[in-house]
Amino acid sequence: MSQKKSLTLSLVVLTLLLTVSASLAQDAAEPIKIGVLQLVEHVSLDASYEGFVDALAEAGYIDGETISIDFQNAQADQSNMVTISERFVKNKVDLILAIATPAAQAVAAATTEIPVIFTAVTDPVEARLVESMEKPGMNITGVSDAGPIDEQIGLFLTLKPDIKTIGILYNSSEVNSEIQAKQAEKIAEDLGLKVKFGTVTSVNDIEQVLLSIAGEVEGIYLPTDNTFASAMANVAKVTEEKGLIVIAGAQGMVEEGGLATIGLDYYKLGVQTGKLAVRVLNGEADPATTPVELLEDTDLLINLITAEAIGYTFSEELMNSADIIISEADVIPYAE
Ligand code: TRP
Repeated sequence: MSQKKSLTLSLVVLTLLLTVSASLAQDAAEPIKIGVLQLVEHVSLDASYEGFVDALAEAGYIDGETISIDFQNAQADQSNMVTISERFVKNKVDLILAIATPAAQAVAAATTEIPVIFTAVTDPVEARLVESMEKPGMNITGVSDAGPIDEQIGLFLTLKPDIKTIGILYNSSEVNSEIQAKQAEKIAEDLGLKVKFGTVTSVNDIEQVLLSIAGEVEGIYLPTDNTFASAMANVAKVTEEKGLIVIAGAQGMVEEGGLATIGLDYYKLGVQTGKLAVRVLNGEADPATTPVELLEDTDLLINLITAEAIGYTFSEELMNSADIIISEADVIPYAE
């Protein structure tokens, strides 16, 4: 090789090396990308996202500074969930947060490589997101919101000791709800209660199903069903008219028209999820071997506004033992 040729070659190699290292340096400076897929907007899910963002910020992962969060709400639409999940994969985000079961299932179908953290998923094993709670096995782990269904059903007897029949309502296409409905049925029957089921396939069926079951039951149990949770105003319209007790799986559902629950705080759930994500981002935890977490502490929440609307009076004992009481004072008056 002539000297001139080898000089040209070394120059080419040098330029190449420089270009590569420059682009690597640029990569390092780029903020960490986090994709968030939330199934739908309702108070519980919104609160869990808020908690997640706060926990990340607490650990130095601040949106717009050290990280960039691409938040997407799928409006409860299956094809939206698929499109958004695929876009996250195409954009090579560093981590995905999936909020609620159907969202986590869509994300799980789109990637086996990007770490996925879920939150507010009732039963990740039944939903086929993980192999087991202790050892998820793949790129996915998270925090489950399985609540104290036994205490929630027991609440019917505290509220109305002579109650005989309850209705359990849910969307039959939500696996999270189906599991809870079955568990609730067993618990209710063990307590000597009769159970009637009412199922919907969309928000549009809610009033109709409630009206058709109202005459046969004295109380309604709603699991953490995303369809019902996003339409509590429709529920309240019927249950108030019929004077029905509503016990729901989540505090947010009671704030928006249910009567009572013993449920978890979704903001806290989100904070716990954020802490888990931080461990994964720091390289301290691998989803495959990081157990799914649960949130243990729950609160008794009662709604006095609903009570008044259905003509119910809480006992003094219950008023005293409630951790959270929703009353007129919490309703923010309209600005003048
Ligand atoms: N647990 C539900 C799921 O797995 C999601 C959810 C969380 C929820 N909180 C809720 C649903 C409150 C209804 C109400 O998809």
